[in-house]
Amino acid sequence: MINYKEKIAQLLSTAVEGLTTEELQNMVEVPADGKMGDYAFPCFRLAKILRKAPPMIAKDIAQKISDDPIFAKVEPVNAYVNMFLSRDVYVKDTLGDVIEQGDHYGRSDAGQGKTVIVEYSSPNIAKPFHIGHIRSTVIGNSIYKIYDFLGYDTVRINHLGDYGTQFGKMICAYRRWGNKEDVINEPIKTLLSYYTKFHVEVENDPSLDQEARDIFTRLEKGEPEEVELWQWFRDESLKEFTRVYDMLGIEFDSYAGESFYSDKMPRFVQELKDANLLKESEGAQIVDLEAYGMSPALITKSDGSTLYITRDIAAAVYRKEHYDFYKNIYVVASQQNLHFQQWIKIVELLGYDWAHDCVHVPFGLVSLEDGTMSTREGRVVFLEDVLNRAVEQTREIIKEKNVNTDSIEETAKMVGIGAVMFQELSNNRIKDYVFSWDKVLNFEGETGPYVQYTHARAASVLRKAGDEVVKKARTADIDTSYITGDSAYDLARLIYAFPAAVKEAGDKYEPSIVTRHIVNIAQAFNRFYHDEHVLVDNEDEKIAKVALVIAAKNTIKNGLGLLGIQAPEKM
Ligand code: ARG
Repeated sequence: MINYKEKIAQLLSTAVEGLTTEELQNMVEVPADGKMGDYAFPCFRLAKILRKAPPMIAKDIAQKISDDPIFAKVEPVNAYVNMFLSRDVYVKDTLGDVIEQGDHYGRSDAGQGKTVIVEYSSPNIAKPFHIGHIRSTVIGNSIYKIYDFLGYDTVRINHLGDYGTQFGKMICAYRRWGNKEDVINEPIKTLLSYYTKFHVEVENDPSLDQEARDIFTRLEKGEPEEVELWQWFRDESLKEFTRVYDMLGIEFDSYAGESFYSDKMPRFVQELKDANLLKESEGAQIVDLEAYGMSPALITKSDGSTLYITRDIAAAVYRKEHYDFYKNIYVVASQQNLHFQQWIKIVELLGYDWAHDCVHVPFGLVSLEDGTMSTREGRVVFLEDVLNRAVEQTREIIKEKNVNTDSIEETAKMVGIGAVMFQELSNNRIKDYVFSWDKVLNFEGETGPYVQYTHARAASVLRKAGDEVVKKARTADIDTSYITGDSAYDLARLIYAFPAAVKEAGDKYEPSIVTRHIVNIAQAFNRFYHDEHVLVDNEDEKIAKVALVIAAKNTIKNGLGLLGIQAPEKM
């Protein structure tokens, strides 16, 4: 595909002296208003170099470059050179490439040879996997897919919260009040109830706290009875998590969570000592971060046990030594901003020059229309229940609307779960948002069902066009003069811009850029479909229009794929 900015910069470099092609390329703009052209070049900066008034320069440049066949028209307007592309050339070049590249359209090899770790989801075992966890899970999954698409070697890590003093409490509670059958039948709800009971009982009997601490110490020492129970809790929890991951179509390469680092800590405590970073405070060891405007970081407690932050330091170094990452990305809620700033600073102070290749990608809170959640008070909305409800409600809508499908069940899953994921990825990740059923399942708004429906609509047009026509549209030399009308051209422009949107989403760790882009493509497609008849009698015209439909469908599918969402052929 022609890189227009690059091509224009090359043309400009023959007309202008004193700036490199790269500098020129950075100056080329895309006007917000299409009436000002597809691209524009401002001449202000050149005035100093050339000692001429900008409008004169614009006029000069326009004259020199306007003959190139990529342009339909080049116009000097005040200090700007406005460039209108030849729609014919543009559409032909774009569609040809999109159709040829198919599933690969938008891919790049920019990341070749570089390893990117994406850590996401990372729930705490024996705790509910609730609606709040959906954010890290779905955003992280999309960031992984985007980096994979950009050619990086990727490693997906689930840093399970499977370690810490709470397991002392859990084991203590299980031994006192627990029942094996109940745990097997409903592990997380049952374990959570033990945990809650512990917190109630400890009010009356403070000695329980000491008992729990002793149990955790035994666990840390690797005493078989405690380890066995802990392992069992972990396995049962993971079974539940996996059920939800399967529904979402999400996978991991590693479940090395906090416990994995439990025996790797002494080295870092020693390194911190050697670097003179540790300070004693009431028997505990801390790193003073006042010089960096942060509160102190607690590294070991007075009883010698390590903490969440210590395990993050160990994990980062392990990952560097094990994977030699180019970037180590953490998709974790913004409530943990300070935690990440603290430990990344400590890794830097330890002299690891890659410290800032560790990137915290934060996101805002999700709340429910009927108030927020509280694990302690048992006001939790389980993610699995939300997904099941989404599928159920979608099934009803499908029946009501008489949606075209071979399997109601398959489509209900694809659309219901896709809808929840899509909503998650619609807004800038840092924004807080309120989960709303009406918005999620709306087939008309800027939603997952809308985009999926548009994809299915394109698929249906292609079915009606027939194999013969589709084949010609894919391979023949199409007459693109039939698809240069405004709505067709707008659609082609959005299709062209897809790879740049993917790249930007990767650079900013912001999947919503892809989401918005495919919403725009879906809307442009529906405008085109409304404005023009695709399946006309004139064979050449039909083939050209079908080619545009193929390219749009293809791009929407690739975009949905980056969000982790399926694209139905019928709906
Ligand atoms: N388990 C933690 C929680 O649920 C999130 C872990 C985030 N990752 C990390 N490397 N600290 O809050």
